[in-house]
Amino acid sequence: MDNNQLRSMLVTQRKMIGWSQEQLAEHSTVSVRTIRNLETGVIKNPRRSSVELLVGALFSAATDRDATLLSQAVQSGAPAGLLPARPEPGPPTRVAELPDNARWRGLRPKTDITVGRRADLLHVMTALRPGRPLVLTGPAGVGKTRLALDSAAHLLDRFRDGVVVLELGSVTPEGVDPAAASAQAQRALDTLFRGFDRDPRTNPELQMLLVVDNAEHVIDTVARQVRALLEQHPALHIVITSLRAPAGVPADLWEVSPLSVDRPDGPYGCPPAAELFCRRVHSVAPTLDLGDQMPQVVELCRRLGGLALAIENAAVRMRSVPLHVLVDEYRVLPILGQEEVGGLSHHRSLHRSLAWAYGLLDERQRRALRRLSRFPEEFSIDDVRQQPVDGGREPSRNLDVLAELVDFSVVQVKRGHQYAYRVPRMMREYVNAIPA
Ligand SMILES: Nc1ncnc2c1ncn2[C@@H]1O[C@H](COP(=O)(O)OP(=O)(O)O)[C@@H](O)[C@H]1O
Ligand SMILES: [Mg+2]
Repeated sequence: MDNNQLRSMLVTQRKMIGWSQEQLAEHSTVSVRTIRNLETGVIKNPRRSSVELLVGALFSAATDRDATLLSQAVQSGAPAGLLPARPEPGPPTRVAELPDNARWRGLRPKTDITVGRRADLLHVMTALRPGRPLVLTGPAGVGKTRLALDSAAHLLDRFRDGVVVLELGSVTPEGVDPAAASAQAQRALDTLFRGFDRDPRTNPELQMLLVVDNAEHVIDTVARQVRALLEQHPALHIVITSLRAPAGVPADLWEVSPLSVDRPDGPYGCPPAAELFCRRVHSVAPTLDLGDQMPQVVELCRRLGGLALAIENAAVRMRSVPLHVLVDEYRVLPILGQEEVGGLSHHRSLHRSLAWAYGLLDERQRRALRRLSRFPEEFSIDDVRQQPVDGGREPSRNLDVLAELVDFSVVQVKRGHQYAYRVPRMMREYVNAIPA
């Protein structure tokens, strides 16, 4: 999240809570002048302590308990590489209390530290509304599932009937067999709901958070399921993770950005992407000290586009290859091809997740993405207008296909007066390696 996003998030949250700048100042102990300057963009690089005070105040307006949990999430152990190679003895830090089985069904959150997602977590926790799904979008491997599950863990106490996670990754894609997709998704939901005292679909007093994970390939089925559930339970809380949002379901969107490679954040003064890399290296090569190689770590993370999954893959490579080789001779494709790797049980191949996202596009969209992947890394609306990305047809069609690619999270947008576009680094590498 860059400073503009942070700024607009602070304003949005303050307004949603219904506070004036003065009230926020009172609750946060940050001066009204600082808040005003921050919100109007006069302050470009706010002090971390001020941001924490503001976030903390906005957050505790949600619930006191959530504030405690958030502060637990914010405190983290030391990233490997910045500290002595061997971890200090002591109790492991946990993201949130582990939910018991009765209150949590389906895929569970990871228990290690989530890096650099405080503002996203705050947004999800305060923006989630009854009866209005919140869709977390963003490129494959960016951290949508992780954010959804972390948020759910922090919100668990608000829901008497707990959290249910419907994971759809293994369901047949609609593009392959719509009937099978629909039947499998329904079966998965039925299985999760089995065993409640009363069937959640007919219980009018249901207080539950439903997380629908990995919805992009069954998005019409999910839209139908969600509509049906909301008809029964107009106040149900739903978080969906997907490369694209469902059509025909009024929802709020939150784009999960790659981890920052520029802005030092958190207690260790390095960018979150670098912190994640160091943590993962530490878990596969605990005696390796990267403390004096931070500039190279940051450079590597930059080349990986801040994509969490790519960073995890590269960290595992550190078992066999020293950092300078990864940075200097770094070719992304050999690593992309890696399948299961030792050390990290949750590992999945980056190549597969990129192929998955690309595979959801139709031929016209793929053609356009291939062209955009040869544009400069950051391009403008004029670039898109001037160069036919859609088979040389009229320019307005370019904007249609651009919009579709944005909806599929394969083009990212930096919004301001002018919009800047980019194909996420790893997707670009993947697409450019496809033979013409
Ligand atoms: N902020 C983070 N801190 C630590 N690990 C992360 C973070 N974001 C993502 N990861 C890890 O990166 C991998 C990809 O994240 P995931 O949530 O599965 O991505 P997505 O759902 O967007 O495809 C997972 O192993 C996840 O645990
Ligand atoms: Mg996911």
